[in-house]
Amino acid sequence: MTAVLMVCLGNICRSPLAEGIFKQLVAARGLDAEYRVDSAGIADHHAGELPHRGSLAVAASRGIDISDQRSRQVTRADFTQFDWLIAMDTSNRNALLHMAPPDFPAARVRLLLDFAPYGPRDVPDPYYTGGFDAVYDLIEAGCEGLLAALEAKDPA
Ligand code: 4NP
Repeated sequence: MTAVLMVCLGNICRSPLAEGIFKQLVAARGLDAEYRVDSAGIADHHAGELPHRGSLAVAASRGIDISDQRSRQVTRADFTQFDWLIAMDTSNRNALLHMAPPDFPAARVRLLLDFAPYGPRDVPDPYYTGGFDAVYDLIEAGCEGLLAALEAKDPA
């Protein structure tokens, strides 16, 4: 079992999409028994809330229902319960590295888009500016690359 935690700032826009898309890819490949997937936010401002309506809408338009998700903050326990902490942007990754226990390998805290074949390294935050369709496409490319790398046992 490989446990993957998708992380953004608020856990309402980007990481809920990453959780939903990664779960869909895992299910489509018949790998449900192999992966545990969750998402969380660096900040707790939106704890308990549904995903942003823009994320709910773009997910629904692509055939994914993420309305079962509720925002929660990253905890110290996440570093013992997840194998991979996958950050949506560099700021989120830096915050995770700051929280990580001293013995937690930094190579297990990664940028999602390091697994995408091209494009930016950071998923832009659509909270203020919108652009949920483009955000979805970036996250999907990252999730496909991440799953391929994990299945190849080569997430370098
Ligand atoms: P997310 O987007 O990190 O992709 O969930 C944001 C959500 C909320 C805020 C910022 C970004 N906020 O400032 O409340």
